[in-house]
Amino acid sequence: MGFAKLFSRVAPVALSALVLTVGSAFAKEFRLGLITPPPHIWTKAAGDFGEELSSASGGEHTVTVFPSRQLGNEAQMMQQLQTGALDMAFLTIAEVSNRVPDFGALYAPYMANDIGHAGRILRSDTAKDLLNSLPQKAGVVGLGYGMAGLRQIVSRDPIETAGDLSGKKLRITPFEPIKDFYNSVGAAPTPMPLPAVYDALANGQVDAIDMDAELIWKLKYYDHADTILVSNHMMFPMVGLVSAKVWKGLSKEDREMISTIMAKHLDGVIDTYVEKEAGWLKDVEGTGKTVREVDATFFESAIGDWENTWSEKAPALTDLRKVAEDTK
Ligand code: BEZ
Repeated sequence: MGFAKLFSRVAPVALSALVLTVGSAFAKEFRLGLITPPPHIWTKAAGDFGEELSSASGGEHTVTVFPSRQLGNEAQMMQQLQTGALDMAFLTIAEVSNRVPDFGALYAPYMANDIGHAGRILRSDTAKDLLNSLPQKAGVVGLGYGMAGLRQIVSRDPIETAGDLSGKKLRITPFEPIKDFYNSVGAAPTPMPLPAVYDALANGQVDAIDMDAELIWKLKYYDHADTILVSNHMMFPMVGLVSAKVWKGLSKEDREMISTIMAKHLDGVIDTYVEKEAGWLKDVEGTGKTVREVDATFFESAIGDWENTWSEKAPALTDLRKVAEDTK
């Protein structure tokens, strides 16, 4: 018996009960976690993704966004994704690279010449192919990349040469590739989550920080700095993740809908940084602080040291370098 025929034989009251049951079997209230605060570009993109998913599914699916580490830090959210306690997250690749070292290749110093180039690398098939290993290696499904621009250095003291960073306590996001980079530079990399950074720089707990242009400007990290080094030394990719356990329970149609809509909003994040990064750096320059532009030569042998370590730890580096060359 077909669906229409089955429905025509069911009494109206029974029919509405059946529709409710069928509807609720597929409806899902997804929870999405991230560490960035509500006004941040990543958080806004998460909200926009949720709204579009809700309207595309006729209100069947909703997404509640938990910003500002409400569900824990990224390592904790990754664990929750693995157990299925959390449905979705927008996480830095930093956290992912702690579990799947091949993602460390995305932090190769000066792989991207500028922010537009970073966007082209992240949109390449080679970068996207890296996501295929995530279900097996990390228990999560990666649906696309966003980013937070390129990394810069904010220092309490004047910085003329890389030697001036020697022995300095320099705040980093907690992950291995950046730690190795600053160890090679001769600094003392100090892992620290975002909410602790402003006070740590203000009270001298750290001498310098590794940060992106947006937050240097919007969170006023320049307040307690003498010098902002516009070094553009690394990309800072983000990834949209769904718990592999949750993913398994979704229909093909739902998976397609979620993939398409999330990838669209992640891609929009890349567009936003490409469009706005230069403006934030100009704004920082307008504060009258010393803003010094440096390139790969500033870091001397540190870049070669990093390549030696990470070409072994992250074999994807070879193919990504080729992509970088082809998309210059
Ligand atoms: C950071 O750790 O520096 C960071 C994390 C998420 C977004 C932007 C910056």
